[in-house]
Amino acid sequence: MKTIRLSTSNSDIQQAAKLLCSGELVAFPTETVYGLGASILQPQAITAIYTVKGRAKDNPLIAHISDRSQLSLLTDEVSDMAHILMDAFFPGPLTIVFPKHPTLSPVVTSGLETIAVRMPSHPVAHALIAACRVPLVAPSANLSGHPSPTTAQHVLQDLDTRIAAVIDGGTCTVGIESTVLDITQNPIILRPGIITKEEIEHVIKTPVASIVGAIDTEAPVASPGMKYRHYAPNAPVVVLKSLPLLEEELQKNPYKQSMVITNQQLSPSLPVSFVRPLTEYDLYANFREANTLGVDRIYILLDSDIQKHVGLMNRIEKASQT
Ligand code: TXA
Ligand code: MG
Repeated sequence: MKTIRLSTSNSDIQQAAKLLCSGELVAFPTETVYGLGASILQPQAITAIYTVKGRAKDNPLIAHISDRSQLSLLTDEVSDMAHILMDAFFPGPLTIVFPKHPTLSPVVTSGLETIAVRMPSHPVAHALIAACRVPLVAPSANLSGHPSPTTAQHVLQDLDTRIAAVIDGGTCTVGIESTVLDITQNPIILRPGIITKEEIEHVIKTPVASIVGAIDTEAPVASPGMKYRHYAPNAPVVVLKSLPLLEEELQKNPYKQSMVITNQQLSPSLPVSFVRPLTEYDLYANFREANTLGVDRIYILLDSDIQKHVGLMNRIEKASQT
């Protein structure tokens, strides 16, 4: 299949909506990462998402809406807390887990009784969903296990010829996936992101728990996606907390091609092939570049600010797990 490259023009967005409504898969930009969209009314397209990505069948998808009226297809239980959260954070990088509507296909939720919903703030995502007039289910538009795509080029690296089209909306501004918050019981963050626990607690005036730190591959999981290795480049990722530790590692392992991702100033005398900045905007792009360059090892040198960034640290930790 030829993957059509679409622009963000109105006519191209209409073409993408037509493809989606006829059961095709289209990748589109959101403020977090690119999504691989299918219409919620096309169960075969939703099944195809799993095949195309190589995604585990037990890992449910997020439904993306452009308007709160579309929630009625997804859930019939919108609590006061949900309204407060949506007032504060929709549209934006927060995904809320609701009890699922009884008529909603289990294909969307991998058989769970809940449905994850998000309203992207990206104008192209918004226009596309509005043109389809129904929610779009969309995981990140990468092959499972690979870093999420933050440009249309990244999408094509993984999915060219496997999907009908990609809309090129440039680089995503957030750069890591949305915060996933389950409010079907006591609120709990299932995946940290740019919207923090503290910001959510401030809005709902209720303590919020977090699953981070409690990942166990054997245990039953509330958010199935969290148990899989994610965001991983080809080379091993070694995380270090101080410059002397990095120097020691470099001496021990004189790799021909190394990439150091850090915000610290490094001495030019260090035997490092590539140095890249450490931000959520370009972490995944750096991982993909490391793959293209064929580096043997990636070092991530943290500083105290980065260590406070729960969402980014979660991605770094997952990428460094083997
Ligand atoms: O920023 C984002 O959320 C991006 C963009 C495209 O919107 N999407 C994204 O989708 O990251 P995906 O499929 O790569 O990750 C969805 C995460 C997975 O960890 C999945 O297990 C979890 O959300 N999830 C989905 N539905 C759930 C549910 N009903 N209950 C608990 N976790 C759920
Ligand atoms: Mg993903």
